[in-house]
Amino acid sequence: MKTIIEPFRIKSVEPIRFTTREERQQILTDAGYNPFLIHADDVLIDLLTDSGTSAMSSKQWAGIMEGDESYAGSKSFYRFEAAVRNITGHKYIIPTHQGRAAEKILFAITGGEGKYIPNNTHFDTTRANIEYSGAVAVDMLNEIGKHPEIRADFKGNMDVEALKKFIADQGAENIPLVMITVTNNSGGGQPVSMQNIRDVKSVCRQHNIPLFLDACRFAENAYFIKLREPGYQNKSMLEIAQEMFSYADGATMSAKKDALVNIGGFLSLNDDNLAMNSRNLLIVTEGFPTYGGLAGRDLEAVAQGLEEVLDEHYLQYRIRTAEYLGEKILAAGVPIIEPTGGHAVYIDAKRFLPNIPGKFYPGQAIVNELYLEGGIRGVEIGSVMFGKYDKKTGELISPSMELVRLALPRRVYTQSHVDYVAEVIIEVFKNRDALKGYKITYEAPMLRHFTATFEPLS
Ligand code: F0G
Repeated sequence: MKTIIEPFRIKSVEPIRFTTREERQQILTDAGYNPFLIHADDVLIDLLTDSGTSAMSSKQWAGIMEGDESYAGSKSFYRFEAAVRNITGHKYIIPTHQGRAAEKILFAITGGEGKYIPNNTHFDTTRANIEYSGAVAVDMLNEIGKHPEIRADFKGNMDVEALKKFIADQGAENIPLVMITVTNNSGGGQPVSMQNIRDVKSVCRQHNIPLFLDACRFAENAYFIKLREPGYQNKSMLEIAQEMFSYADGATMSAKKDALVNIGGFLSLNDDNLAMNSRNLLIVTEGFPTYGGLAGRDLEAVAQGLEEVLDEHYLQYRIRTAEYLGEKILAAGVPIIEPTGGHAVYIDAKRFLPNIPGKFYPGQAIVNELYLEGGIRGVEIGSVMFGKYDKKTGELISPSMELVRLALPRRVYTQSHVDYVAEVIIEVFKNRDALKGYKITYEAPMLRHFTATFEPLS
């Protein structure tokens, strides 16, 4: 097997800025030890997110010039609609400016007090939009997905038995829809099998509950199915994606991921009434139904990106990148979620820093050290992001996992960038005994991770 190469050549480059360790120390101190507050210019390799950070292709940029900016009935909308419908098979295609706008519309209509929305694992914005409507967001991840060190093919699968029991307990009439997130971002970017989607659909069908996909990373999920699930080896990526969507009655999508664009999203639906209500709300909050909060040029770029993302050479390179980084650091003993998922490598901070308890934020310690050591920006997904205070004792209650996510922007970095990232992680791991925990010096009442400031413990 020869080296899997980046399946593109580079036509336009963007310089990255080198800093010294002393400069980074000052920058980090000024940012209150929170990499969210660092200027992107001061970051050498930015692995904060894979969302909206893709490099667009020459054809997408050409589409930007082709964009039709007509308020109503733009030809770019019809190209976008055809591209989304080709993959989803859904009747109504509603553009939104990003994923959470689609979620907002969907749950404003279907959610509300007394309602429950099950998912394998809700992403934070999905959970927030459900809870904002008054409904309850329920995670039902398969047991195996909760163990970072256990290798399995489809750790994003939903627990079908738990779903059955939940429907029996709460009543189908209180469950307006069931959702499956592909891939499961909050659980390590792990894929969901076709069999699991089919099984969940069959339970939903028995109770007349619609099934929705949170489809941000549908192409990465489809590629895992091709690699790992019997019966799919000779199917095209498009066929696999179409089959995934064929079990869904609707989908929300942040095009900022697998549509290879910097902004965009959609809500796709089959139900006539829901589509009519969604379009009416769209007009109030996003825009006219043929642009929905986007420019015509953005719709062109999404349409083109949805074609490119299903290219097998691209997906092979994409999945291999995370796997390659994972292999390298794992070989040096760095604990990660295994196997690697589609869009990111997740370091297991609990095993990396067993002596720093959740209340002293081990993930934050690693994130900050990666920046100091090599100018790399990742994100803590642990006690900083999801920690809650006990109302009685005031003690911090940590989530079950302490993770550091290194998300890989699409088509942006080359193999030598990834080699460098691995070297920096390994260096930090070798010096892990010198790492100190952190305490919070400021925090907002909600979503504190974005703006909190920290101080290292002495
Ligand atoms: N669903 C999933 C699974 C996501 O990962 C995201 C965004 C959204 C919905 C919301 O989409 O940002 O376009 O409104 N995830 C980004 C991330 C922010 O860094 O993982 P959006």
